[in-house]
Amino acid sequence: MTADLAAPVAVAAGEGGHARAPEARRAHSIAVRGLTRTYGAQVILDRIDLDVAPGELLALLGPSGSGKTTLLRLLAGLDAASSGAIHLDGEDAGRLTVQERRVGFVFQSYALFRHMTVFDNIAYGLTVRPRRLRPSRAEIASRVADLLDMMQLPGFGPRYPAQLSGGQRQRVALARALAIEPRVLLLDEPFGALDAKVRKDLRKWLRDIHDRTGLTTVFVTHDQAEAMEVADRVAILNAGRIEQIGPPGRIRERPATDFVRAFLD
Ligand SMILES: Nc1ncnc2c1ncn2[C@@H]1O[C@H](COP(=O)(O)OP(=O)(O)OP(=O)(O)O)[C@@H](O)[C@H]1O
Ligand SMILES: [Mg+2]
Repeated sequence: MTADLAAPVAVAAGEGGHARAPEARRAHSIAVRGLTRTYGAQVILDRIDLDVAPGELLALLGPSGSGKTTLLRLLAGLDAASSGAIHLDGEDAGRLTVQERRVGFVFQSYALFRHMTVFDNIAYGLTVRPRRLRPSRAEIASRVADLLDMMQLPGFGPRYPAQLSGGQRQRVALARALAIEPRVLLLDEPFGALDAKVRKDLRKWLRDIHDRTGLTTVFVTHDQAEAMEVADRVAILNAGRIEQIGPPGRIRERPATDFVRAFLD
């Protein structure tokens, strides 16, 4: 695993070869400033500052209730901040609709549509676009086929979610998130419900997908080993604040606070 920031992966436009998400030709940055979320008197996120570099894979690690999901929901535009700002590529995300943000997300609880085939699940975000923004049926079919190849699920389009293993379902969920040409990818414990062996395979595979697409990615996990193995940098959240952020090796060798030291033990 690299200890440095991931170099943005350049993917040449029009290049053929291995299946690649067409959306990943340019990597995007995330900048968060003073982001605060309160529920009543409770401060859930407390003036968070965070920069994610284009093409970087950042893992968010922290105890239950520390605000990881809340932070992802704010990034996705599924929830509004109490104060502070989020910029995507320097654009104030507060001015963008959820669709305009083009954030792909896979949440543990965000299941596939059971009554739809794998193909229709992946195509969903494209087919619900207004007509003028919607790709043609042929374009959608070709994009879904590319994504199924990338997920190592060729020919799985006609199946229904009930006919897939847990790991296959999570890969379909990831394909669905990638289909909308996201600027950034947000993953909230996407492998949480899977057994240890499948998780291990999927995390390697996630790193590989990330390196191929070059998508700026924020990945929430409870699992320290997973965070340390997969991420370019790890941010440790505690009670709505970032205690430490840095490359996995640095955090392990030089915990910045007592909390981080105890948390990593
Ligand atoms: N809609 C809500 N109303 C009130 N409090 C909320 C709401 N959503 C979340 N919270 C509180 O915000 C805090 C952070 O929740 P969050 O889901 O972000 O934690 P998390 O770090 O993702 O935890 P976990 O690892 O268990 O998923 C918790 O104390 C939670 O109870
Ligand atoms: Mg959570």
